[in-house]
Amino acid sequence: MLHGIRVDEIRSTIRALDRASEERRPVDMKTVFFELTMNAVMRMIAGKRYYGENVEEVEEARRFREIVTDTLRLAASSIGDFLPVLRWLGVGGVEKRLVELQRKRDVFMQELVEEGKKRFGSYGGGGEVEGKTKTMIEMLLALQEKEPDYYTDAMIRSLMLVLLIAGTDTSAGTLEWALSLLLNNPHVLKKAQTEIDNHIGQNRLIDESDIANLPYLRCVINETLRMYPAGPLLVPHESSEQCTVGGYRVPAGTMLLVNVWAIHNDPKNWDDAKQFKPERFEGVEGYRDGFRLMPFGSGRRGCPGEGLAVRMVGSALGSVIQCFDWERVGGELVDMTEGLGLSMPRAKPLMAYCKARPVVANLLSQI
Ligand code: HEM
Repeated sequence: MLHGIRVDEIRSTIRALDRASEERRPVDMKTVFFELTMNAVMRMIAGKRYYGENVEEVEEARRFREIVTDTLRLAASSIGDFLPVLRWLGVGGVEKRLVELQRKRDVFMQELVEEGKKRFGSYGGGGEVEGKTKTMIEMLLALQEKEPDYYTDAMIRSLMLVLLIAGTDTSAGTLEWALSLLLNNPHVLKKAQTEIDNHIGQNRLIDESDIANLPYLRCVINETLRMYPAGPLLVPHESSEQCTVGGYRVPAGTMLLVNVWAIHNDPKNWDDAKQFKPERFEGVEGYRDGFRLMPFGSGRRGCPGEGLAVRMVGSALGSVIQCFDWERVGGELVDMTEGLGLSMPRAKPLMAYCKARPVVANLLSQI
């Protein structure tokens, strides 16, 4: 239902990159991808655009951006949740600041819920109204009418927040790592570009529905998620009952961390584990591949946004390589050092030059 929003945001990104290409200036791709995913997810949730051009409510956008910056900063310092010993040593104690941040987030999200209620009150019911698709808030308000005790405002605010936290930085980071890898491996970039040219041509922009027909692009994304999983320790799980896992007794109430980064980068599991080789996934049935590859976790608490993530990352990465040639700044290889943070960001934001491809000039003029 919300496909049109994502298409719109990708087109706006392509326009911004086209301007950078004309002006021959390097682009901060961390910001580009972050703003793309933020705008796409917030428009799906609440119909709001808080980053880049055409931002309508300037003060509201400023407050939102402040909340996002604080959220990402505090998430990065919550290491005490993963290693409680650090908390006992007084490192990583961020509870007070988190409580204050949560208060601000609640106020902000509730304002959006109230706006949704006003809109909802004016037309009622779910689905589409006068050709305009309803946002997630409005769909949840429709459910609230039927089951008010379950779909409370607090439940709606929590869902908004979890999608925002789990669905933006992860996809943006994956896009940034993928493009970094492609810049350091131009032959892979060329091969992915050729696949898109052969299947889609140069007269229309790649769409989410094309991804199933672009196996090499999928291999590039899988290989990126193998080397740089956006959830390197998944999220902490807790055993509700005593159980045995791989021969180890796990008492009830134990916090279990799955080090997916280690599994994905283990030379016992992968030939040339340190090498970027998308071809290793060619012809692999079912990408989990015997649980060696689990960038989205697995089972009941696995990532529910996986389908959306693959669509967003696939169509955004596909579009930027369909429309532009890419060059590193300064000629040296892109530094692939990992930085600190729960979603394993790059240590340094990716800067790169994009050059509009002459073969897509006609397409670019229509975007
Ligand atoms: C490349 C992008 C993404 C990656 C790599 C990723 C990865 C993950 C991982 C590893 C988990 C924990 C799974 C586990 O512990 O077994 C998770 C949970 C989650 N993800 Fe994603 N995710 C991505 C994008 C998204 C998107 C786009 C959304 C929704 C808009 C989303 C929503 C969630 C939610 C709500 C959870 C918590 C599920 C629960 O606790 O039951 N994610 N994700």
